[in-house]
Amino acid sequence: MQVVQRAEQLAPAASQRVLVPTMGALHAGHLSLVRKATEAAGEEGVVVVSVFVNPTQFNDPADLERYPRTLEADVEALREVGADVVFAPPVEEVYPDGPLTEVPLPPVATEPKLEDAHRPGHFAGVCQVVARLFELVRPAKAVFGEKDWQQLRVVEAMSERDGLGVEIVAGPTVRERDGLAMSSRNTHLSSEGRRRAPALFAALREASLAKLAGAGPDEAEGAMRRVLGEAGVEIDYAAVRDARTLVRDASTDWRGSPMRSILAGRIDGVRLLDNAPW
Ligand code: PAJ
Repeated sequence: MQVVQRAEQLAPAASQRVLVPTMGALHAGHLSLVRKATEAAGEEGVVVVSVFVNPTQFNDPADLERYPRTLEADVEALREVGADVVFAPPVEEVYPDGPLTEVPLPPVATEPKLEDAHRPGHFAGVCQVVARLFELVRPAKAVFGEKDWQQLRVVEAMSERDGLGVEIVAGPTVRERDGLAMSSRNTHLSSEGRRRAPALFAALREASLAKLAGAGPDEAEGAMRRVLGEAGVEIDYAAVRDARTLVRDASTDWRGSPMRSILAGRIDGVRLLDNAPW
């Protein structure tokens, strides 16, 4: 396995590359995406995992500051799981001097009033870094997790719109035994907060049960809010939306099209997200 800091050190693209973009502090969720990338790459393909804590997507400087950085352990985990290349660029490789081109946001980033309402500027940073990583690595495919469903949809929409020629592959959410979605931020939870954190998954399950019992999206949202409220989660949003556009309005055919329950909230000030098919 090769560990490189500069895009020019990537071996010439003799065969197709599959990129897994990450911010490091890798856990089993990330590693499942690397396995997925290995499948997508086939015999000939090369799996490149980028590890880069992107400053432009953090709207809270304290969050950027305390984001866990564990490159040595990440490299070891990636070696074990069979990645071919770790691309860990310094900031100046990704953002050389000079004005950066802003990547226009697709509607799914802003219209649903989900992440963007609580982390303004976040998706601008994500689109910028993903477009830049695609430019540096030139992958044929890139793997993203369903854990960040809106991010996945934003990246898909951006790639389609801009004809980036990168096939976006999605990997399912990997969870702890009690249902909590794995996240690098989980390590910031106190042990008491960690005990309350499975409430996010419980809320999604409650929304599905409500549907099975004949409830509509509004009632299911109410059920999610109740479960989250009882666990003392400070809710940012808990919504049932069209799985593709992440919007729901009077014209949404929620019985006929794929829907998604999606939520975000804070425990001990640690922001957690989760989602599931509804
Ligand atoms: P990061 O949070 O490190 O996540 C990297 C990838 O791992 C994302 O595609 C994310 O959805 C996926 N992931 C995280 N937790 C997961 C889990 N429990 N199960 C499955 N997949 C999971 O998301 C980012 O970094 C950044 O925004 C990035 C796309 C790298 C741009 O900077």
